[in-house]
Amino acid sequence: MTEKIQFSGSDIFPNNTFVNDKNNISIGGVDLEELADTYGTPLYVYDENTILTTIKDFQDSFNSEIENSVISYSTKAFSNPYLLKLLDENGMNIDVVTGGELAIAKHVKFPPSRINFHGNNKSPEELRDAIDYGIGHITIDSFNEIENLRTITEEINKTQDVMLRVSPSIDPHTHLLTTTGVLDSKFGFSIETGHAEKAIEQLMKIKSLNLLGLHFHLGSPIFELEPYSEAIDYVYDFAANMRDKYGLDIKEFSPGGGFAIGYEVDKQPLPISHYAKVIGDSIKKSCKTHNFSLPKVILEPGRALVGRSGVSIYRIGSIKTIPNVRNYVSVDGGMGDNIRPALYGSDYSVFSITKALEKENTMKSTISGKFCESGDYLARDVEIPNPEIDDLLALPASGAYNLAMASNYNMQVRPAVVMIKNGSHFLIRRRESYGDLLSTSIL
Ligand SMILES: Cc1ncc(COP(=O)(O)O)c(C=O)c1O
Repeated sequence: MTEKIQFSGSDIFPNNTFVNDKNNISIGGVDLEELADTYGTPLYVYDENTILTTIKDFQDSFNSEIENSVISYSTKAFSNPYLLKLLDENGMNIDVVTGGELAIAKHVKFPPSRINFHGNNKSPEELRDAIDYGIGHITIDSFNEIENLRTITEEINKTQDVMLRVSPSIDPHTHLLTTTGVLDSKFGFSIETGHAEKAIEQLMKIKSLNLLGLHFHLGSPIFELEPYSEAIDYVYDFAANMRDKYGLDIKEFSPGGGFAIGYEVDKQPLPISHYAKVIGDSIKKSCKTHNFSLPKVILEPGRALVGRSGVSIYRIGSIKTIPNVRNYVSVDGGMGDNIRPALYGSDYSVFSITKALEKENTMKSTISGKFCESGDYLARDVEIPNPEIDDLLALPASGAYNLAMASNYNMQVRPAVVMIKNGSHFLIRRRESYGDLLSTSIL
C-alpha cells in the first residue's frame, strides 16, 4: 500500500495531495514526477475530484441558504471543452464574455438556456450569434448594448431575457486591477451617477427585452464578507426605488463571483458556506424589508471553482546566485503561462515535488521564468529545499486565470493540460507545437 504523508501546505493543493513512498508529491494517487516525465514541463494538472467536490460545495452551501440558487461558472477563469462537459453533467450554468468563449460552449453543445453572456463591449455580431443559439441570459453593460439588443430582437421578433449589471460603488479591498464594482470602473451602470436608473427606464419600455433583475460583481479575489452584504443592501434599496418608479421586479438577482482561494499557506479564505450564509441572509433581509419575493439567486464563481484543482509543474533549468542580493531559480515556464505575478504582484507558494518533506538546507529563491522580461517571475523570495538543476517545482492554486491569460510571448508554446481522475491521468489539451505558432501566419 502506498504511503500517504501530509505535508505543510497540502491544503492549498487539490484534494488527496500527499507525499508518497517515493517521497514525491502525488495527487489522487498520481505521482507528479511521473506526470512531468510523461507529458513534459511546464505542465498544468487538474484534479477532477476537486472540481466535483467544489461544485457540490457551492451547490449545497447556496441551496441550503436560498432554494433554487444557480451556480454559474465564469468560463474566463479556465475554458476547456472537457471541463465544460463536466460542468454540464453536474447541472452547472456558465457565463461567457466573448464570442470565443461562447464558441467553446457551443462546441460541447452546452445547453444555451444555461448560459449567460457578460461583457462590457459585446459586438452586435456576438450578440446576434448568442441570441441565435438561444442563450438564456444576456447581462447588459452599456447603453449602446441596449440599442443593439433592441435592434436585433425587434428585427427577428424575439424576446430576450436580460439582466442589468449595476455598479454599487463598493470597494471589496482587493487589487486595483481586479476591482470592478467601484465608481471609477468600465464595468456596469453606476447607481451613484444615475446611469443605472436611466438604463432601467429605457429597458422597461422595450417589449422585446425582458428585464429579470440586477447583477453586480465587485472584484476578485474577495476575502471579506462585508462587501457582499453592503452591496446587496444598497442594490436592493435601489431596486425598491426602481420598482416604485418604473415597476421593476427582481425575479433574479446576481451578486457575481469573486470568492477567494488560498494561494499561500498562511492566507486561507473562509469556507464557501460562510459566503453563502452572508449572501443568503442579506438577500432575505432585503427582500423582507422591501417586500420583494425571494429571487432566483445566481452566483458566478470562476477562481473558486477551479483554482485549487489546478497545479502547475515546472523544471528548474538554471540557478544564479548574486551574493548578498538574490538567488534566481529559473524554470521552463513563467509569465507566458502565468502572468498573474507580473500583472498583479500575485503571491504563490512553491513546493519541490521531490523534496516536499525537506525542512533543512533551504534556499531563499526568486522563481523566475524563461521570458525576456525582468518582471517575468512566478514567486519572489520563497524558501525552496536545496534547489538543483532538473528539480521539479509545483505551484498550487494554478487552476484559474493562469492558462486562461496565457500568451505565446517569445514564441513560447503553451503548456499541455492533464486531468487526474480515479488514479489515472489523460490529456485534456496537448502542448502547442511550433507548427501551431505558424498556423495563422501568411507568408
Ligand atoms: C461578471 C463577473 N462574474 C464573475 C466573475 C468571476 O470572478 P471570480 O473568478 O473571481 O469568481 C467575473 C470575473 O471577472 C466577472 O467579471
